[in-house]
Amino acid sequence: MNSQQNCPGTVLITGTTSGVGLYAAQSLLKRGWRVITANRSTARAEEAAAKLGLALQNPEKLLHIKMDLSDLNSVRDGVKNLLTKLDAPLDAIVCNAAVYLPRLKSPRRSAQGYEISMATNHFGHFLLIQLLLDNLRSSPRSSWKSNSWGLESARLVMLGTVTANYKELGGKIPIPAPADLGSLAGFEEGFLDPISMANGKRFKPGKAYKDSKLCNMITIQELYKRFRGSPIVYSSLYPGCVANTKLFRNTPKIFQWLFPWFQRLITGGFVSMELAGDRVAQVVSDPEFCISGVHWSWGNRQRKNRIQFSQKLSDRIMAPNRSKRVWELSMKLVGLEEKS
Ligand SMILES: NC(=O)c1ccc[n+]([C@@H]2O[C@H](COP(=O)([O-])OP(=O)(O)OC[C@H]3O[C@@H](n4cnc5c(N)ncnc54)[C@H](OP(=O)(O)O)[C@@H]3O)[C@@H](O)[C@H]2O)c1
Repeated sequence: MNSQQNCPGTVLITGTTSGVGLYAAQSLLKRGWRVITANRSTARAEEAAAKLGLALQNPEKLLHIKMDLSDLNSVRDGVKNLLTKLDAPLDAIVCNAAVYLPRLKSPRRSAQGYEISMATNHFGHFLLIQLLLDNLRSSPRSSWKSNSWGLESARLVMLGTVTANYKELGGKIPIPAPADLGSLAGFEEGFLDPISMANGKRFKPGKAYKDSKLCNMITIQELYKRFRGSPIVYSSLYPGCVANTKLFRNTPKIFQWLFPWFQRLITGGFVSMELAGDRVAQVVSDPEFCISGVHWSWGNRQRKNRIQFSQKLSDRIMAPNRSKRVWELSMKLVGLEEKS
């Protein structure tokens, strides 16, 4: 498929039943990419894609595979299945799927017994990346051009967020608490019941989401540090506040009604799903995003024709000892050995 004219490559994207992931798939298909989606329900992924006419327009360029990111066994099975279906290496991976469950009274547990937001948003993607890194490295899209890997590199893209970046105002919101992994005591102690937070402290469901996104952003920075010379471009992005996606389905109904309105009229931060999806596709595809280790943003207040910039990240993401330890503990908690 990659060898076909006008096909820049094959991209795997997680979580496309709705929201940013669905519209990113649409934008990538429009740009000619072959898109493989990973979802816990392939039927719902097909249904969502059909509603946008994606399957009709691109019958040979869209494939759905089953993968429940909250379950490490399902991630392993999904990757095995994926590898049997590929006739060439992947050219890009987009880690997009996530859950946000701010109203849980007590921790919900994954198949492996981990708190569900961290399990889905971080551990599932962390394992997926580890299992597919070698495959992505062999993408023919990356070729050595005089002193760099060229602009059409293989790319690994992570959805980050403003609320996980303490450097930005949105990352300092004290309700329920800013993202902070503390001493990592919860991870160090095995992250199983009764532990539910990375810092080992009391369960705060809204913070559990922010912490998991903090781990996502740390993962990109740590990949960049560890594999700086590799042909893969590692990036994260904040697509803007897409205040009307299903991500907010667990928030109170009044919040779901007011939040998009507030973001549109008061903060000016509102971004449509189409624009957010297109921003993801730009980071995957466009030459100007071929800089590794960058967290891309278009700012919090949306302005017409504003272009992307490299957003500064807090020490909670960048501190080398911390990110190294998050990596080591994540390897252990997903059941992998560090390669020496
Ligand atoms: N919305 C925003 O304002 C915003 C801002 C910054 C960053 N983001 C990030 O953007 C990404 C997409 O969020 P969104 O707003 O588009 O939310 P969304 O509409 O709820 O989409 C989330 C996707 O993740 C999937 N998913 C959830 N749990 C899964 C699991 N266990 N296994 C596989 N897939 C699973 C969902 O599928 P199901 O139908 O199976 O649940 C859905 O397809 C997230 O990473 C989020 O953190 C969003």
